[in-house]
Parts: sequence; C-alpha cells; structure tokens
Amino acid sequence: MAGNPNAPTEPALARRRIRENWGSRLGVILAVAGSAVGLGNFLRFPGLAATNGGGVFMIPYFISLVILGIPICWVEWTVGRYGGARGFNSAPGIFSALWPNRVSKYFGALALLIPVGIYMYYVYVEAWCLAYAWDYAVGRMSQYGAGTSADTAALMSAHTNHFKSFVGMGENGLLVHGDLQQGVVFLIIVFVVNFVLIYRGLTKGIEAFCKYAMPLLVIFALIVLARVLTLGTPDPSRPEANVNNALGFMWNPKTGDKTVLESLANPELWLNAAGQIFFSLSVGFGIVLNYASYLKADDDVVLSGLTASSTNEFCEVCLGGLITVPVAFLFLGEANLTKEVLGSSFSLGFMSLPAVFAKMPAGNFFGAVWFFMLFLAAITSSLSMLQPAIAFFEEGFCMGRRLSVTCLGLLTAIGGLLVVYFSKDLLATDTLDFWVGTVCIFMLATVEVVLVGWVFGIERAKEEVKRGAALRVPGIFWFIIKYVSPAYLLLIFGFWCYKNIPDKIRTIGAMTPEDRGTVLLMLTFIVLLLVFFALLANLAHKRWVATGRLPAERSHRFPVVPVGEGRRTQA
Ligand code: ALA
Repeated sequence: MAGNPNAPTEPALARRRIRENWGSRLGVILAVAGSAVGLGNFLRFPGLAATNGGGVFMIPYFISLVILGIPICWVEWTVGRYGGARGFNSAPGIFSALWPNRVSKYFGALALLIPVGIYMYYVYVEAWCLAYAWDYAVGRMSQYGAGTSADTAALMSAHTNHFKSFVGMGENGLLVHGDLQQGVVFLIIVFVVNFVLIYRGLTKGIEAFCKYAMPLLVIFALIVLARVLTLGTPDPSRPEANVNNALGFMWNPKTGDKTVLESLANPELWLNAAGQIFFSLSVGFGIVLNYASYLKADDDVVLSGLTASSTNEFCEVCLGGLITVPVAFLFLGEANLTKEVLGSSFSLGFMSLPAVFAKMPAGNFFGAVWFFMLFLAAITSSLSMLQPAIAFFEEGFCMGRRLSVTCLGLLTAIGGLLVVYFSKDLLATDTLDFWVGTVCIFMLATVEVVLVGWVFGIERAKEEVKRGAALRVPGIFWFIIKYVSPAYLLLIFGFWCYKNIPDKIRTIGAMTPEDRGTVLLMLTFIVLLLVFFALLANLAHKRWVATGRLPAERSHRFPVVPVGEGRRTQA
C-alpha cells in the first residue's frame, strides 16, 4: 500500500469500521450473564462453601455481594457505556476517555491482560469438561473404579488417578510426548470453537450463542438438581446423610462446636468470599467494561446490571450450591469436606463428583448432563475473555476481524501451550490463576472504584447512571462506592497480600528446581504480557491523539469529545 495515493488514511479506515451494538436488551443481559456464569459458579463456589463451613460462608458472601459485587458491577456498566458513547470499546480507550491522564491507558493494559491471561488456563479446564461429558456419554467413565466395590474412598482414588493422568499432572510435557492425548485433542476442539464464535462477531457470535447456551445450561442444571433433591437417604446405613441435613449444612450458619461469631472472626472467610464474588460476577476482569461499551448511549445500565448479576447469583447459589454441596455432603460426608481431602476447588468437580456419579443410579446420564452443562457455562465465559483484546486490536490499530482474531489466537496459543506443557501438578495453571485470576483482579477492581468515586466524581457518575435507567440507584450505594468499597477492598487486599504473598514466596523457594523454573517462567510470561499490552496501549493512545479521537494527555481534566461524536467517527 505504501506510496499509493488512493490508500485510505487512518481516520478513513476508522470511519469505515462498522460500530457493533448488541442486537437486543435480552441478548446483552444473557451475554453478560453468560460471561459471569461459569466454572466459578458450579465448581469454585461450592468448593469454597463446602470447605469454609457451609452456611457460615454465606454471610460474608452476601455482604461482599452487596458492598463490592453490585456496586462495582454498576461502575463497570456505567464506565463501559460512557466509553462506548465516546467511540471506545477497549479498556485503554475507555479509561483514557474517562480520565485523560498518562497512567489511564496502562490501567487499560491491565484490563486486557486479565481476561487474556485467564483465558489461557480457563479454556483448558473447559476442555476437560467437554472431554468428561463425552466420556460419560459413551459410557467410558464406568471403567474407572470398576471392580473397586462401591466404596467411595476407592472410587475417589480411582477417579483422582484418572484425572491426574488425563491432565498430565505426573510430569511436565506428558501430554505432548508420543501419541496425541485426549486432553490435547479436546483443548484444540474447544480452542477452535471459541475462535470461530468470536470471529462471527458480537451479535452473530457471542449474543446468538449465549441466547441458546444460557437457557440450555439452566435446563441441564435443573435436571441434575431435581435428581439431587430427590436422593432422600442414599445410604440407609448412614441415616444422618440425607437431603434435609445436606441442605441444612449449606444454609445453617452454625458450624461444629463454634458459634457463628467465632466462625466469622476468621479473616480468611471474608477474603475467600470477596474473591469469589469478583471471580463469579466477572467483575474486575475488564469484560463488563467492554460488553457495556456496545450499549447505546441511553440503554439502561442499572436494571441490566442487576438482572445479569441476579441471573449469576441464581445459577451460583440456587443451582451450583444446591447441587454440588449437598451431593458432596451426602456421598463424601461432612467430615471429608475439608481442603485437605478435597484439594483445590477443581478437585470437587473432577475427582470427587465422578465418584458420586458412579454410586448414583443412571450416573452416566447425570455425569454427561452435568459436565456438558459445565462446558456450556465455561464457553460463554471464555468467549467473553477474548472480546476485550479483539476490540482493542480493532480500534487501536484499525485491524480487520480476521487479523485481530489471528493475532489473539497466536498469543493465546502460546499461553495455552505453556499451560499444557508445564502440566506437572498444574503449576502453570495455578500460577496464572493466583497472579492474574486473583491478584490482578483485586487491583483492577480497586482502580475502577477509586477512578469513579474519586476522579470522575460521584455527582457525574450519578448523572451518567441515571440516563435511560428504569430504576433509581439507592442513595446508600453512592456512599458505598465512594467510601465503603475502596476501604473494604484496600483492607482485604492488603490483608490478603500480607497472608498469601510471603507464603507463596516461601513455597516457591522450597520447590524443586524444575518446579521453581516453571513458576518463574510463568511469572516472566505474565510480566511480558503486561509489558506487551502496555506498549500497545501506548502506541494506540498516540494514534488516537494524532487522529483527534482523544485530547492530548493532561490538556483537559475531562474529555471534550461530546456524547455521540465517537459513534459517528467509528461508524
Ligand atoms: N465469571 C466466570 C466464572 O464464574 C469467570 O467462571
């Protein structure tokens, strides 16, 4: 193209891009709910609730929902729509439009790193779900633990061994040596499905898929729920292991000999509850920012945000919580619901539940339904993790869909390969999950709430939220957004770092050289990824300033681009 006098200029290319919008209000709610409802609802939440005392966990959980989850969710919807109205769909653009300061674009880079980094291991777990569903559907799961009698411990150990070899936990590189392993085959399938859907675009890909997948996953979960709630007393020799007691365990805050207040005095409980709220609502991921940027300037953010969050909570508490926790209580027993026995939150899904399905009448059917439902929940979330970076490549560098999808495909394939190769004890996955899926999320959520409460200002935020809203945000929430959420976040994040980071560093120091190498490699990869996005954000920002889409940094306290202008230049 160089030297061609007829070549389109960059502003012309930007104008030629068709601005995407959601097809319908229901579509956007289902897409946001699809992003939120995922493995966190059906595996992570029940795992945490079960190992944190059942009912007592629900107290900090609901408090975190009210003072962190819902307010920050509204913040993200509002900021996203604000950025979208000014022509930006990517976090570096949205943050720069919100606060024209030179650091804004770097906060945007963090909001790109989080979904991409999480996608790299999330898609792998998604592949396990599909592979397990397939194995149940074709009756292959019955072979694990066959001949070990109906003893739960023996069944669990057989399924644990199967899971470990399936994901290559024994040694690094196990899955890519020799024959093509089932885990890798399913990872490739799932990877391709994700990219095909994302290539189809916002409405034809994400929205259309979520419109079917979300109701379907609720129907599948209801089928399993109906089975669980009618289990009665599955083992007559243990009459105390009945559905009523299982529900009591999930909802009664009194645990063991401790009083409720004694249990609540444990700070770990509050940290786990807050972390779960973020993970589950996909808040602090940078995803809602991006999704909300495709709203029209007058689309409701209050009711839509609330509806999407409520759908997520229904799936988490009423489906995930009422299926997995009672099943684990009934078949494994309350005494076994500890971190030591269950291991990580994934274990409950892949090591313990298969043992439970093996003991259940029609277990293969319910296993297939359950794992396929998990796959649907996971894919609606993983899709949402790709869209923020695609939007950034498109609007930052005027890339076409094909090129942006290819670039992101290559980038995430590198991460995916690292995760699959460094499979020993799932160390690569754990490292990404801890540093990106937990530490970075806390950081981004804090940045967002401080930006809106203290930089953008509550009065302007109120005006912005009000536009098109069918509901009024209760006044108390503004107080919460300005004071309570940041203070609570800083407090729990500070405490969480104090409790976990020295432990993490000690653990890394005590590892074998091979394991330490894996962790250091993954940490280097995360830092490189962040630097990469920061450099790109910087470059994109320069182009936006040069083409007049953004004012130069620090020249105005607030953007001068009027509402609707971005829509015209983008269209
Ligand atoms: N919010 C998504 C989940 O719960 C990431 O899995």
